[in-house]
Amino acid sequence: MLEEQLSALQAEAQRRIDSAQTPEELEKVRIDVLGRKGALAEASKQMAKLAPEQKASAGKLLNSVKQSLESLFETKKAKYDDEMLARRLDAEWLDLTLPAPGVRPGTLHPITRIQREIEDLFTSMGFAVLDGPEVETEYHNFDALNIPADHPARDAQDTFWLTDGHLLRTHTSPVQIRGMKKLGPPLRMIAPGRVFRNEEVDASHEHTFYQLEGMMIDRNVSIANLIYFMKTMLSAVFHRDIKVRLRPGFFPFVEPGFELDIHCLLCGGSGCPVCKQSGWVEQLGCGLVHPNVLRMAGIDPEQWNGFAFGLGLTRLVMMRYAIDDVRWLQSGDLRFARQF
Ligand code: PHE
Repeated sequence: MLEEQLSALQAEAQRRIDSAQTPEELEKVRIDVLGRKGALAEASKQMAKLAPEQKASAGKLLNSVKQSLESLFETKKAKYDDEMLARRLDAEWLDLTLPAPGVRPGTLHPITRIQREIEDLFTSMGFAVLDGPEVETEYHNFDALNIPADHPARDAQDTFWLTDGHLLRTHTSPVQIRGMKKLGPPLRMIAPGRVFRNEEVDASHEHTFYQLEGMMIDRNVSIANLIYFMKTMLSAVFHRDIKVRLRPGFFPFVEPGFELDIHCLLCGGSGCPVCKQSGWVEQLGCGLVHPNVLRMAGIDPEQWNGFAFGLGLTRLVMMRYAIDDVRWLQSGDLRFARQF
């Protein structure tokens, strides 16, 4: 009787395994048949009532039914697992040749761009690019540049003094001194960098901004040489002829000294906040190096002379890209930075 019961059970289980449509259905069949409280477990309980001589053969039969159902079940389950894997791989398929979505490469800050353009230009004309410290000594920032102790540039209004007597350089001119001492004459150098002044911040003033210093020492350097290099630099930056104006300017480290203005490219000369309504923007200070400065750097002014200039890099960049407020440059605002 148990034999008949088992073969009926086997037939029914096979039919259900065959017709199961989903992994969930299949699992239900497994629990019903092979589970702890399933049909086979029931059948093996009944075996306890059998006579000892019947037990052995019934046990064998039970085991073989169980094994054959288990293997049927495993086969079908493996088929479902394969299908599921195939579906998952299908969904995860990647085309590695497509451009990645939403990746924005970084861009160079406009000051960096112009700085590099000018560096390339001067390098091509035999100038070295030098670096100097932002925390400077009073000697390099003032004394060695022929700026006497009572000069207004030393006023606490303009200079950020550190408590140990050092200062934040107010211009890149101290690199002239370092350059002359390092290279000796003849020399051609530029020195871009960050400078600091204790000023009220507004559309055209920042306490932190960028300059680019330049210096050439040789025999018989003239104002014509100076003007040539300034014009070459400015037309390279603006890719066109621009109006400039030279005014006498006083800087203790040059004699004669000049201020070079350019026509305001933002308003075209009609007046705007950047040019303070004048139509002109101060772009650089320049002149022939003062003999005292050469002498202090160990260069004989009887043998050598030269020119020097200090360009307002921040202001130049504002002109070049028509930026009407200096505060954008250090704002860290991505809407600004992404335009370049
Ligand atoms: N250092 C001067 C400034 O900051 C600029 C300058 C440099 C002028 C070199 C003449 C020569 O205004």
